[in-house]
Amino acid sequence: MKRKDVRGPNVSAVWLMVATTAVVIGPAPEASSAQESPAYKNLQVLPQYISRAELSEIMLSNLSGLGLRRRANEGCLFCHSGSMDVPSSEWDWASDDNPMKLKERVMMAMVRDINGGYLLDLPDRDHPEAEVGCYTCHSGCTNPMPLEDLLMVEFESGGAASLVDVYRRLRARYYEADAYDFRVSTLVDVANRLVEMDSVEAAATVHELNIEYTDDVVAHGGLIQLRMVQARRRPASTRWSLGITSSKRSARRRRFDRCY
Ligand code: HEC
Ligand code: HEC
Repeated sequence: MKRKDVRGPNVSAVWLMVATTAVVIGPAPEASSAQESPAYKNLQVLPQYISRAELSEIMLSNLSGLGLRRRANEGCLFCHSGSMDVPSSEWDWASDDNPMKLKERVMMAMVRDINGGYLLDLPDRDHPEAEVGCYTCHSGCTNPMPLEDLLMVEFESGGAASLVDVYRRLRARYYEADAYDFRVSTLVDVANRLVEMDSVEAAATVHELNIEYTDDVVAHGGLIQLRMVQARRRPASTRWSLGITSSKRSARRRRFDRCY
């Protein structure tokens, strides 16, 4: 095992996993007198003697990984406590009052263990070595949830109309971004799940929504098959009766998100 001790005085490159523009951020405490006393009050995962520049870089990569705003440190409030009504230099950065900060500690430790542990044991790595950062999973969104899951949550709380509405909204806003998987198979998967729940009309609505955005034969095929199933009045709850499987669902790269 070649585990790096990232808790030691030298900050491992493991932490500097996402390149961000170096921007000086205001709120850090006064520069520590070198290695004698820690500059920060409440670091439980990061090394005690981390420099201000390194801490800034990590905090900024949090922002970009999760798609939070940099301006006036507003995005920092996702995890920290403070208010936009007072200058960010007055915020209590060491406070653990914001529960998101506690979640984030778990994330930081996880990323450290992946990059500084598991990946070091990977034989024959690529050069340059790829590392995991917040963006790898979060794709610029705060809460990772694949689009299909998110749409099903919407369906369960607000029905087909709500599902369609959320899909349109996310598509308009994030189509060019990495955040969601808008390929044709996503809505086919959702429609198949709805059929499994015997929500056949909702499934048809979802196929129609898909067709509105794409000419892909898979989208058209999904609707045709569904209509055939309905016409034959077969129980529509068997996956094979749809013809189209959602084989891509588990295989493809998952897209995480919940950006709204
Ligand atoms: C996704 C959550 C998250 C975001 C966003 C975030 N931070 Fe943090 N921040 C943390 C966590 C977690 C810690 C504590 C790390 C530890 O325990 O080692 C921390 C610690 C700090 C500390 C050290 C405080 C101390 O004295 O202990 C400073 C300063 C800080 N962050 C500044 C910022 C700034 C500035 C921003 C915005 C540019 C920012 N953070 C954005 C989660 C976040
Ligand atoms: C290996 C994939 C992965 C990586 C890498 C990752 N996360 Fe996460 N993150 C998740 C998952 C999965 C959840 C759990 C969502 C749930 O079930 O509540 C999560 C949850 C979170 C949450 C809580 C969101 C909420 O609304 O409750 C925050 C904040 C977060 N991650 C920040 C980060 C930051 C910052 C980084 C980079 C240091 C990071 N994550 C790296 C997968 C990842």
